[in-house]
Order: sequence, then C-alpha cells, then structure tokens
Amino acid sequence: MLTATGLVKHYGGVAALDDAGITAESGQVHALVGENGAGKSTLVKIISGAVRPDAGSVELDGHPVRFANTRQASAHGIAIVSQELMTFGDLTVLENLFPFGGPRRFGLVSTRAMERRAAPVLEELGLDVSPHARVETLSLADRQLLEICRALLQDPRVLILDEPTSALPRQAADRLAGTTKRLAERGLAVLYISHFLEEVLRVAQRVTVLRDGRTVLTGEEIEQVGVDSLVTAMLGGAAPSVARAERARRGAASLALTAVGVAGRLRDVSLNASGGEIVGLAGLQGAGHLAVLDVVCGRARPATGSVRLPGGAAPRSPRHAVAAGVAYVSGDRKGRGLMLDQSLWENATAVRRLGLGRDGLMPSRRRMVERTEHLIRRLRIRGGPYDVTAQLSGGNQQKAVLAKWLDADPAVFALDDPTRGVDVGARAEMHEIVRDLANDGKIVLIAATDLTELVDLCDRVLVFQRGRITDEIDGQSLSEQALSLAMNAGFAAPL
Ligand SMILES: Nc1ncnc2c1ncn2[C@@H]1O[C@H](COP(=O)(O)OP(=O)(O)OP(=O)(O)O)[C@@H](O)[C@H]1O
Ligand SMILES: [Mg+2]
Repeated sequence: MLTATGLVKHYGGVAALDDAGITAESGQVHALVGENGAGKSTLVKIISGAVRPDAGSVELDGHPVRFANTRQASAHGIAIVSQELMTFGDLTVLENLFPFGGPRRFGLVSTRAMERRAAPVLEELGLDVSPHARVETLSLADRQLLEICRALLQDPRVLILDEPTSALPRQAADRLAGTTKRLAERGLAVLYISHFLEEVLRVAQRVTVLRDGRTVLTGEEIEQVGVDSLVTAMLGGAAPSVARAERARRGAASLALTAVGVAGRLRDVSLNASGGEIVGLAGLQGAGHLAVLDVVCGRARPATGSVRLPGGAAPRSPRHAVAAGVAYVSGDRKGRGLMLDQSLWENATAVRRLGLGRDGLMPSRRRMVERTEHLIRRLRIRGGPYDVTAQLSGGNQQKAVLAKWLDADPAVFALDDPTRGVDVGARAEMHEIVRDLANDGKIVLIAATDLTELVDLCDRVLVFQRGRITDEIDGQSLSEQALSLAMNAGFAAPL
C-alpha cells in the first residue's frame, strides 16, 4: 500500500541514501535494520515528509505522493515516531498528545474530549502519567511512550516507529511489541526500526536491510532469514566477535557511598566500588538505581550519609564532580549529552575546553581536532571532526557522548544507558572500550534498560527496590533472568 523506490539523498558529499526502497503492507509489521548511519532514519523521514529526496518516489495506494511536511503526511494517514524524541518539555502531556489541535467542541479545543480520547491509548501502552503533568518531569522512557501515543492518536494507516524501544525497560518494550502486533492485526501497516534483533524477529513479518544507503535485502519474510544472515547483511561480512575478556586486578582508587539517603529516592544505600570494577545498577523505574548515578555526578545531594570519590572529595555539584574526575554518559543525548548545534570536535573536547579536564591543560585547536579524529577512529563514528553533531545519525551521536568523556580521562564513569540506539557491531566495540577502561583501573558504574548489557559487562550488579539495595548478583549467577526476578521480587508478576 506504501512503496518507496529508488530513493537518493545526499548531504553535501555524504550519500545518506543511494538507491533505497521499502514497502509497507497493511496488516504487517515490516522491520528496517542496518548499522548506525546506514540511512534508516533518512528513509523514513522521506516517507513521512520531514525530508525531501534528491531522487526516487513514494507511492501511496499506487499514487505518487510528495509531502512538503509531516503534517501533510499525517493528513494522508502516515504517522512517525522519530528516533530523536520531539516532545515539548514545558508543555503538558495532553498538549503534547495533540500537536495539531485536539478534538473540538463548539469550535473550541476541549480538554475533556482530549482526555477521553487519550485515556485508552495511554492505558494500552501502559503510560501511567497525569495528562496535566509537564513533560519535562517525565522519564526518557515515558517520553518515548508519549510520542507513540501521539502517533496513535492520529489514527494512522501507516505507523513508522524509529527505535521505539531504545529507552524502554523490558516490560514496557514487551508491552509495545504486543501493541504493535495488535495494530497490524487491525490493518495498520507498521515500519519498525530497531537495533534489537530478537525484538525485530518477534514483532515483524518482513524485513528490509540497508547498508551504506542501499537496500541489500528487500522485504524478505523474516522467518526465512534468521539473525545470522541479518547481521551478515547489515555488516556486509564479518560479524563482531564478543569475547568476555579476563578482568585485570583491582586498582587502588575507590568510590564509597555510606548510608546515603535522598528524599523520596534513596534510603540508607551503602556501596563500595574499586578501580577496575564494572558495577551494574538495576531496578524498575523509580527503584533508586539512577539516583545513585545522580548522587555520584553531583546532580543530587544526599540528605543523609556521605559520598567519597576516589580523590577523597564529595561531589558538590555536577561541575565539581566533573573536575573531581567523574564522567556521566547518558542515553538521553539530546537532553544531557551533547551540544547538537556544535561540531563533533567541539563536543568531543568540551569537557577539556570548559577547563574541567583534570590535567588543566588546554591544547590548541589543531590538537583538539586531531584528538577528535583519533576518537572518531577508535569509536568508529561515521562523521568528521567538523560535522555538526545534529547531523550525525542517532547511534553516532551516542558514540560522540562517550567520545567526549574519553577525551577527559576521568577516574569514574557513570553510565546511564550508554549504548542507546547503537548498532550491534558498534555496541560490541563500545563494550570493549568500557572493559578497557576498567582494565585501566577506572571505576565503572552502569545502569541499562537492556539487561543483557549488564550481564555482558558487569562484574556484579546491585539490584534496587524502593530506594534500597535488595540484592547483589555476580559471577555465574549473573543472568538476565536472575536480574529480572530480583528486580520484580515481591511485586505482582508482570502481566
Ligand atoms: N541533516 C543531515 N545533514 C548531514 N548529514 C546527514 C543528515 N542527516 C543524516 N545525515 C547523514 O546520513 C547518514 C545516514 O543517517 P541516518 O540518520 O539515516 O542513519 P541511521 O541508519 O538512522 O543510523 P542510526 O542507527 O545511528 O540511527 C549518516 O552518515 C548521517 O551522518
Ligand atoms: Mg536513525
């Protein structure tokens, strides 16, 4: 019912798309996969009217269409949830849900009518927030669900989801998978972009693979393909090998939280982490594991107890924590990680340029560009030092957040979903880098919505419930299932 063919899109010298296409059939979920920078977002942005192609065509029910903007596409029944979330923080949930004006009564926008329309959609996706809450108070996961609700409220015939689960915890992701399948059963055509291949296999019937802007696998039945051939098609050859490297001996540096309490978030939490350790922090939303990162980064002040960073200082503010050697890598790259309007080199060297590098040295611009080039190679970022960061693909932006901190050489890495939206190959590389950091004697604290990430990386994982540490899992017992059980222990079984 919707077909895109022969799409070409160049940005300056970069070919984002070079003969790409995809078909969306009503009643089916069609997955679109590929490495970071392969052109997936560009392809769906063209379909949804956000970007104009240099060549190629989009047809809806056999008629060529050309949308000037997403609003026109929406009027034709095409709704998109884009990868970089587009919520308005200072507006309410309800105002975000009806961007083109909500249902009207007597010519006036009716709040009551909006609430009535929104309620079942929020319920179906399990988004439990007040319609009048300001969106900036919502977690990244809830903002992601909010955008999906907004798309559904447009009653689309074609629904495009660009990395809809990258910030969602397991339960919410499973729930979304269920909803997506039901929508397709009701006759929607769904285009689904994700780096989680098992998720793609569960949700989609068909798959298209993009590599370097070209379709290399077109609309195959997904059951006939399988993960191995998918990965091969994406990477064009060698699949990444991920070995669990031997861990080096512990370094001397240590981080200590003693009986830390933060109003409404943490109660009596004590933990010690030594240099060379990768310590996972797990919990359901609001369990307190993220509050630990906030405390270490100086963004939350303990009301009781104390925090000691490796140098002996207590983090007094985010700026002070950075100067004391704490790096904070967030999956919320738009809100917390990057200056999107600046170049990659400016971002990569930002910590140092703000005078926060621990050695106090401020190298020349040429040196900083060279360091950025080095980081680009190390992290395999697809982009150059002078590229504006907003123009990098989502996964490459995420790598830039890590690059920025690697340049500053901190002693503690506080990672919150550090690989959100990063493709399988690059993710394995980022994991290698995190292990290298630990082997260099750094302390790594990591929270991740994807539990496999914790299992792959951590020496041990602390499990939080209601602001307290309720479990610690390490060694052979560390598995996704064990974590999930510990996180949910004492609560009613999920769904
Ligand atoms: N506005 C833009 N200006 C310049 N280059 C761009 C722009 N948008 C995308 N690109 C480039 O086009 C290429 C494809 O980007 P795209 O965002 O489509 O990738 P993607 O497959 O969605 O990757 P990811 O998995 O990381 O989200 C990248 O090299 C990117 O840097
Ligand atoms: Mg993308």
